[in-house]
Amino acid sequence: MRLQTKTTPALGERAEAVVFFLYAEQKPAALGPVFRGLNAEEFSGKPGQLCLVHTQGKLAAPRALLVGLGPRKKFTLPQLHRAAAAATRQLRKVGVRRAAFEAGDARRAGVIAEAAVMAQYDFDRFKPSDAPSKTKLAGATIHVRSGEESAASAAVHRGQIIGETVNWTKALANLPGNIIYPATLAARAQALARESRGRLRCRVLDKRALERGGFGGLLAVGGGSAREPRLIVLEYHGGSRSPNAKPFAIVGKAITFDSGGISLKPGEKMDEMKWDKSGGVAVLGILRAAALLRLPVNLLGVIAAAENMPSGTSYRPGDIVTARGGKTIEVINTDAEGRIILADALAYACERKPQAIVDLATLTGACVVALGHDIAGVMGSDAGLIKRIRRASEATGEEVWELPLRDQFREMVKSDVATVKNSAGRWAGTLTGAAFLQAFVDEKVPWAHLDIAGPAWTDKARPHHEKGATAFGVRLMIEMLSRG
Ligand code: BES
Ligand code: MN
Ligand code: ZN
Repeated sequence: MRLQTKTTPALGERAEAVVFFLYAEQKPAALGPVFRGLNAEEFSGKPGQLCLVHTQGKLAAPRALLVGLGPRKKFTLPQLHRAAAAATRQLRKVGVRRAAFEAGDARRAGVIAEAAVMAQYDFDRFKPSDAPSKTKLAGATIHVRSGEESAASAAVHRGQIIGETVNWTKALANLPGNIIYPATLAARAQALARESRGRLRCRVLDKRALERGGFGGLLAVGGGSAREPRLIVLEYHGGSRSPNAKPFAIVGKAITFDSGGISLKPGEKMDEMKWDKSGGVAVLGILRAAALLRLPVNLLGVIAAAENMPSGTSYRPGDIVTARGGKTIEVINTDAEGRIILADALAYACERKPQAIVDLATLTGACVVALGHDIAGVMGSDAGLIKRIRRASEATGEEVWELPLRDQFREMVKSDVATVKNSAGRWAGTLTGAAFLQAFVDEKVPWAHLDIAGPAWTDKARPHHEKGATAFGVRLMIEMLSRG
């Protein structure tokens, strides 16, 4: 999609539809006589409400779409994001290819651009080619008050990069386990680095390198699958060139398919476990966006990739596994595999002396029980880092909620025969998962863990997300890193 910015007087020229955002207090009639007949039942301005009007020559464009923002006092940018996405989906549905949005200021222009790009995405590449293809917007003009134009064009450019990266991330996350497995995920990471024109560096550790490096967690979890595990390391140098400038590390769980292994999962909804790579794929998206935006930071991305399968070579309950760095893990349940591969990835990240670590993982079903499908759990060792994540979350609308990672949960994961055990039973499953991870993080490194099991994908379409992967964490982390 081509995006451009203009100032308001030209609104709607050469567009097939113009889009206006209205607070509940605003009267549509104030926008022009064509809206005079609308009553409150037809359009009240409640959040996400849409009303399409034929303008009969009274505006430059033949159609106008009114979009509700709710009461002015409760307005947030994430609400505008959802409203703009809903509007774009509606325009696509009625076959509009060129639209004009009345944004007002530069910040809003950026949010609208990002949402409009995100609303272009569908996971349809495997649908039969004779299926009716959905219209996409070919171009949109985003209008702002005069004086806002240059700030707006920068914000729109940024919104477009982030929106496109979200779509790129979703497209990868939605691919199934027969197409994306550790080796092919690593190949995608290498292709990303190649296409970055030197801005990203990628190194992949294959099975032999993992053996030499003592990555016992990845080798154990990946051992049951014919698809061998990988550790994927991506680096981006956008900040200080000084050799002792510490990178910000982002670590991700990429289980390309989680059957549960010998502790096999029930069959119902097991197909959804193709999305158990969402954290790792989000790390790729974050590095991609950071490089395209040239963020002034140094980043270290570490992705632990394995497939968890039952077979004669699988690891088993009762096994004792030695992770990178020498700490040992008693395996209670082979379905608590994410924490085992992350043990290796976190220990490796710590060796690189990062300034901080954030990990993203679809770690526990318990987090979905606690917080549902819209909110990620956040836990960690550093209040300042968690606060940065919470602030960014308020700006993007990717919701997080902190859970209390206390000493008692670290006690619960202690093992009689090893450093830690990988399951401490049902209760506080999200917190014992986090406490397990903490055992592999250097105490001196500020660390936060995002359990994205709930929001990583959705089984019902939303305005800003169709069914499937949501790329949760990409916008959040880019926002956090941009704020410094
Ligand atoms: N990938 C799952 C967690 C999950 C479940 C994510 C449902 C999204 C939806 C993870 O590997 C897992 O199986 N965790 C177990 C841990 C338990 C065995 C301690 C769980 O949550 O049941
Ligand atoms: Mn599992
Ligand atoms: Zn899993």
